[in-house]
Amino acid sequence: MTVVSDPVSAVGSSDLAIVAVGTPTRRDGTADLSDLARACRGIARGVKLASHYVLVVIRSTVLPGTTSRLIRRTLERVSRKKAGRDFGLVVFPEFLREGMAVHDTIHPSRIVIGELDRRSGNALERFLKEFYGRDLPPLIRVNMATAEMIKCVSNAFLATKVSFINETANLCERLDNVDVDCVADGMGYDHRIGRDFLNAGPGFGGSCLPKDLKTLVKGAKHFRVRLRVAEAALATNELQPLRLIRVVHELVGNPRGKKVAVLGLSFKPSTSDMRVAPSVKIIRALVKTGMRVKVYDPKATENAKSLFGDTVAYASNVRDCLEQADCCLILTEWGEFSALTAALFVQTMKKPVVVDGRRVLKSLSLDPRIVYRALGIGRQVSDAIASRNCTMRREHPNRSTGPRHLI
Ligand code: UGA
Repeated sequence: MTVVSDPVSAVGSSDLAIVAVGTPTRRDGTADLSDLARACRGIARGVKLASHYVLVVIRSTVLPGTTSRLIRRTLERVSRKKAGRDFGLVVFPEFLREGMAVHDTIHPSRIVIGELDRRSGNALERFLKEFYGRDLPPLIRVNMATAEMIKCVSNAFLATKVSFINETANLCERLDNVDVDCVADGMGYDHRIGRDFLNAGPGFGGSCLPKDLKTLVKGAKHFRVRLRVAEAALATNELQPLRLIRVVHELVGNPRGKKVAVLGLSFKPSTSDMRVAPSVKIIRALVKTGMRVKVYDPKATENAKSLFGDTVAYASNVRDCLEQADCCLILTEWGEFSALTAALFVQTMKKPVVVDGRRVLKSLSLDPRIVYRALGIGRQVSDAIASRNCTMRREHPNRSTGPRHLI
């Protein structure tokens, strides 16, 4: 592999030119394609000078129609060559999860090739067949706009699933002895539904789901189509973090001067990324109400410092974070949190009040010394239900590989 900083020389010595730059959302909800356009202009300059057939591969997430209009035009204008005749063009969307990119590249759920013409599609398929060999995943070939659409609505559907289970969780909370994880397990066995993305929490975040959903809703309006389900998923996601703030306030009484320990800041575990993390909204609101907030995250503390500055205190471990706190709020399901013991909360906190936004410490509900409230679990969870949840969860084929037994 050779690393260069000049796109022209990179394209000159390659058969494939892959564009994977970010497409962030502007304030008005439209996609900012300036980086993408810049990258395409650079590649087009290389295509212009190349004496061989170069296949331009668009990996960035864009709205349907973007490649055949904006990208194709830019490439043809700058290269002074014709797409489909002098160079190839395909949309090759990625479905990689942050923190799992290498795994998802090697074991993709599917490959979608959106081709301008047969020759472009054949060129990418040949390359992928060589790369994956006998492990070639399901592969479909469609036109470019269809591939773009598949990527956009896949993220929109995942986001909708999360909002759906979050609203279900909010209802479960109002019922006695109903645990949203049991409900999700029961739904998930139906292969038409599936268990993935049915883990309720403070809302979906990150640099993809919220952004792609907003861009899709806005883009559809341009065609005078309202995506009401996607709009609702977004609206639910705006409100979901507020529920946890309400629970904290309810449990601590007057929030002014009370100390809250927040465990988990990143938008999901195994990453330090705090972009659009629900924790940001929640912490800012808690600070606004006069609470003294101390935070801990295994990886995201440095990012948190640039977001919150000295408005919150930073702990170097869980014990330090819990010290003398009036309430503990768990926002990200880091593995180390599920190993915490009831004794730790009782010994270190001023009052052992735990608000569990991810239900990682359900066993605390059985400890009479602790006030435990979990998102998605009704207040009067009986011992029988609390313990059965754990064993049922291990039984599910898509879940962890723990001991498999039923009570
Ligand atoms: C997402 C998609 O999952 C990828 O398939 C896609 O390729 C990627 O966006 C992208 O467009 O590049 P990622 O942003 O890494 O991947 O995040 P997810 O793993 O999808 O999680 C998104 C958010 O949903 C997180 O805040 C997570 O905590 C939340 N979530 C997810 C839940 O609250 N419950 C769930 O059951 C699942």
